[in-house]
Amino acid sequence: MHIRFLAAVALTASTASALLRFSCSQLVVERLDPLVNPGMAPSPHLHQIVGGNAFNVTMDPATPPPSQATCTTCTFADDFSNYWTAILYFRARNGSFIRVPQKPNMGFEAANGGMTVYYTPFFTGRGGPGTVTAFRPGFRMLIGKQEYRTREEASRFRQLTYTCLQNILTRTGETLDMPKRPCPAGIMSNVRFPTCWDGKNLDTPDHMAHVAYPASGTFENNGPCPASHPVKIPQLFFEVIWDTSKFNAKDLWPEDGSQPFVWSQGDETGFGNHGDYVFGWKDNALQIAMDSNCDRCPQLKSQSLATGNKCIGPLHVREKIDGCKLLPLFQSQNDVARAMLTMSVGLDAIPGLTPDLKYRN
Ligand SMILES: *[C@@H]1O[C@H](CO)[C@@H](O)[C@H](O)[C@H]1NC(C)=O
Ligand SMILES: *[C@@H]1O[C@H](CO)[C@@H](O)[C@H](O)[C@H]1NC(C)=O
Repeated sequence: MHIRFLAAVALTASTASALLRFSCSQLVVERLDPLVNPGMAPSPHLHQIVGGNAFNVTMDPATPPPSQATCTTCTFADDFSNYWTAILYFRARNGSFIRVPQKPNMGFEAANGGMTVYYTPFFTGRGGPGTVTAFRPGFRMLIGKQEYRTREEASRFRQLTYTCLQNILTRTGETLDMPKRPCPAGIMSNVRFPTCWDGKNLDTPDHMAHVAYPASGTFENNGPCPASHPVKIPQLFFEVIWDTSKFNAKDLWPEDGSQPFVWSQGDETGFGNHGDYVFGWKDNALQIAMDSNCDRCPQLKSQSLATGNKCIGPLHVREKIDGCKLLPLFQSQNDVARAMLTMSVGLDAIPGLTPDLKYRN
């Protein structure tokens, strides 16, 4: 386990210097989006949420997560932030939808679903310690547009991509659209957020206007932030691995040669990839980590994957997400998601969506 973890760090160390790389297991899968649809339960489409258990139908920026949460699914125990993305379904030839299980990332084999989260202060030889400003309490942002369905639209976001995993180590060949061929070790969705902030707004109506990409170059090569968004913030990055391997048989894929995976907002193209963030680190833990340019960060409070896995729910929206009936035995909130995963037989439609997938929010 330890050796594998080091191998994983070595994997990223060739492109980045020290960076926070950690696991956040699944907190809940439900139709809720307190950023885009506050107060709405259910929200239009399904998400997997990870992080602190203060996640709720509405999240008031004035009461940040550390003051509300009692546990977190992340291995850095002072991170009560919430991170979420859409959920992936497989559309079978008979028209039913089966939720794609997840697969742990390198070094985090014991994680229950969730994602790998990175905060990068700078890349090797480009920039240095002390150059990024951590997010402030109340900060939140969104990247990606769930309704985008074309490459032209999606090109607005430079770093929302997919990696077709040949094995768990594959890190090349990122695409803006969903892989067109079966991926032997699954599909990894990569969600990198912009790295420049206007220095004033904790949020904006579209949840994006307060952040921007560098004015020239990239965060990776230390490109400067635009004058409108002068404050350099850490690069927040999620990797979410979908274990599509059990759907790879040729006779399961559509006869017309198209690919069968669909995001929970009804997107078969992959161009609607999106991720959401509500900052919730306790005190100045994130700034300390960024300034000290640490990776395992002994100065931060850590917890085991097993402890992170135990932080679950509460579930605010109860509905079928896997096409099975809840058995009384499994009605404890903690077991619902796991039980449903193993009992999956398919749904007629993705929760919240009509079967024709022409849906746009
Ligand atoms: C969610 O919000 C409701 C209504 O404001 C509140 O009663 C409840 O305690 C909140 N739950 C959590 C986990 O914060
Ligand atoms: C539809 O096909 C899937 C995958 O082959 C299968 O698991 C499911 O049971 C089928 N559903 C029905 C209603 O036949």
